[in-house]
Amino acid sequence: MVSFHIRPSWFLPESAATPENQYASRRKFLRDLGLGALGLGTASLLPSCSDPEWEHFGNKGGTLFPPDRPGFPAPRNQRFDGSSLQTTPASIATTHNNFYEFSTDQSRVHKLTGLFEIDPWTVEISGLVNKPGHYSIQDLETLVPLEERVYRFRCVEAWSMVLPWTGIPLGKLCEQLEVQPAARYLRLTSFHKPDQAPGFKKMSYYPWPYYESLRLDEAMNELSLLATGIYGHPLPKQNGAPIRLVVPWKYGLKNIKSIVRIEFRKTRSGTFWNALQPQEFSWLSNVDPRIPHPRWSQATEKRIDTGEKQKTLLYNGYGESVQRLYRPK
Ligand code: MTE
Repeated sequence: MVSFHIRPSWFLPESAATPENQYASRRKFLRDLGLGALGLGTASLLPSCSDPEWEHFGNKGGTLFPPDRPGFPAPRNQRFDGSSLQTTPASIATTHNNFYEFSTDQSRVHKLTGLFEIDPWTVEISGLVNKPGHYSIQDLETLVPLEERVYRFRCVEAWSMVLPWTGIPLGKLCEQLEVQPAARYLRLTSFHKPDQAPGFKKMSYYPWPYYESLRLDEAMNELSLLATGIYGHPLPKQNGAPIRLVVPWKYGLKNIKSIVRIEFRKTRSGTFWNALQPQEFSWLSNVDPRIPHPRWSQATEKRIDTGEKQKTLLYNGYGESVQRLYRPK
């Protein structure tokens, strides 16, 4: 279990995101409860595990990983074998999650995924691509074989982990889908099922669904992965099942979970957090210890499992693979 709690201080202040009338009535709600003056927010109002929400959305002791399917466990790509890195225990990576569709309380997300349906699932591929369509996870895993890679993971909140992902190299998928020469960007969209995840209704002031964007040359980079597994098994729901993006040189917020659509575009699209808080979350969101977040330094990070403080590396240590993408042209 996580032995400490980092205050999720990068959370969007409600005053910035909430339409004024909703914000005002929420402030009144907090005041009525006597909590407003204390500055207590949504997480503090969340009910305990034996409450109706838990009963409704809760996992009720379900298994951690969905059943293995063909392709699992996948062979490890020796270029990314992570032999010099200490992997974060699964018990921590699967119980400390940022997934606002379920909760802003990182320790509660895994308890609220019981109603989330991940099978069947399709990913719509659209836009400037010769092979558009609705692809099942198995279709995608057949197009490009699965492999395992160990990557560092750095959240914008200044904590980090090391995770063994199983997934499809995104660049190889783009080749299989025959992305057209005019394509320059990808827009990736997450699921939007308000009856299956409590955050949609509870935080209706957010512009759901969660969405992200990448440049095509970023997507084609050897590091970019569409993960469908972790720790040698299919992804648990709280980690973004059944398919999520992994771009390890960028802050965690770029790693969009539970993807339902990938659109190849000529023009740049926005991102969920950059649209809400551009001064706090840049469009690129590359890990960069030289650029502090407006409210804290990014020079160091804390390993979520060991509590160890370590220096943050430019591009999270992946400069050799990605720095050429950002050289001035
Ligand atoms: N994707 C969706 N759909 N919703 C989210 O709230 N949070 C992001 C990212 N992808 C998020 C998301 C953030 S802020 C982080 S740090 C990572 O997921 C967390 O991934 P993890 O829970 O597997 O560690």
